[in-house]
Amino acid sequence: MEKWRGKFAVITGASAGIGEEIAKDFLKNGINVIGLARRPELILQYGEKIVGEGYGKVYAHKCDVTSLESIKDAFKWIEEQFEVIHILVNNAGILKSLKILGDEDCGDKINEVIQTNFNGLVHCSHEAYRLIKKSEDYGFIININSNAGHRIFFPAPGLSHNVYHGTKFAVTATSEIMRQELIMQENDKVRVTSISPGVVNTELFAKAGHASPTNFYGNVPSIKAEDVANAVSYLLTTPYYVNITELTIKHVSQKF
Ligand SMILES: NC(=O)c1ccc[n+]([C@@H]2O[C@H](COP(=O)([O-])OP(=O)(O)OC[C@H]3O[C@@H](n4cnc5c(N)ncnc54)[C@H](OP(=O)(O)O)[C@@H]3O)[C@@H](O)[C@H]2O)c1
Repeated sequence: MEKWRGKFAVITGASAGIGEEIAKDFLKNGINVIGLARRPELILQYGEKIVGEGYGKVYAHKCDVTSLESIKDAFKWIEEQFEVIHILVNNAGILKSLKILGDEDCGDKINEVIQTNFNGLVHCSHEAYRLIKKSEDYGFIININSNAGHRIFFPAPGLSHNVYHGTKFAVTATSEIMRQELIMQENDKVRVTSISPGVVNTELFAKAGHASPTNFYGNVPSIKAEDVANAVSYLLTTPYYVNITELTIKHVSQKF
């Protein structure tokens, strides 16, 4: 972790849940955080309280990752302010209650899930890589994937996973594609990791119309957002030649 002190990390969806905990860990470890979200004020609210000797500084910018224009604007601002970055954490993600083969007219919901979880990740990676490469330093792209990106668990009450599964499988494929693109470019300074959490107790489920992960999955135990943040921090402690390409993290009693 020490070797990333003073570097700049962009975290999408840093205003809540897993993104917020990753940002807090980075700040405490001397990494400057540029948080992106539709509610950037929430990032400054907690970030400006995390002050101490050797801590990183927090910055926030409004960005809606469903919009290419918004992503381009955000990275233009980042380049103007900081010139380069070193780490991108693609964390912004949503879950929506819908059925692909259902009666409800849910085209907008389907688009929003795909645009947030997949298009957003791809476009942010494209924009961020330009600034990581410009630094001529070591870099890291960390994709917050999901257990749902590797296997279909069916049936979940409410069947809310549907399109979500597809976007997360796409994150699995895209993480490996980005890794291979870097090898083809002979860029061994930048690593790509997909982190796949099981059930994490955050607002994700409430926003999808489920009171909590427990309400969504029945009696499935969950881990905390801090646990995922710890896994992200662990990645940054590994030597530059070690690429943990995939890391799965779930509660000891989670069955699926
Ligand atoms: N919770 C779980 O059980 C679980 C399990 C596996 C994987 N994950 C993944 O972990 C990631 C974080 O989820 P979470 O559980 O921490 O959920 P969360 O608490 O609901 O946080 C989601 C974050 O994403 C941001 N976001 C959503 N839509 C956005 C958009 N259009 N543009 C920019 N930012 C957007 C939100 O910020 P604003 O609303 O301010 O924009 C918020 O900061 C997601 O990729 C999710 O798929 C979660």
